[in-house]
Amino acid sequence: MAGSKEDQRSSEKSKRRDLLANGVMGAGLLASHSLAAVLGVRYLYPVDEDRRRRLFVAVRSEVPPGASFQFRTPDGQTVNIVNGPSGFMALSDVCPHLGCRVHWEAQDNEFYCPCHDGHFDVNGVATAGPPAEMGARLAQYPLVQEGDILFIEISVGA
Ligand code: FES
Repeated sequence: MAGSKEDQRSSEKSKRRDLLANGVMGAGLLASHSLAAVLGVRYLYPVDEDRRRRLFVAVRSEVPPGASFQFRTPDGQTVNIVNGPSGFMALSDVCPHLGCRVHWEAQDNEFYCPCHDGHFDVNGVATAGPPAEMGARLAQYPLVQEGDILFIEISVGA
């Protein structure tokens, strides 16, 4: 009789242990299948993220008002950075007319394209020459200021 009670308790313990082990195993399988499903869906339907990268440009206090310098992005684009009357601007050096190189003319407080006498104000808006007739402007890059540090934000990948 006593052996039978012990057998019964042992059998109940064994059932509980099996139940617990099966529960843990089931939860593990569910988690791994869920992860596989999520990865599969992301592979089949990739998320089109606008991934931006922030790059150091300059220490602001070291760029006097009216000064300009060129910054080269990792993919080789040249950006004119200007400390203009309304603050720092980052504008492409590619003229929207036919793609010549635009540069900053501090004495005239404007960007200038020598190819066809194109003029742009400090915000990159064309003011004279063929680019103005097209109603064009220089492409602008976002700048971020953190304290005295200036960063440029560029898109990476696509
Ligand atoms: S390419 Fe710049 S004005 Fe023509």
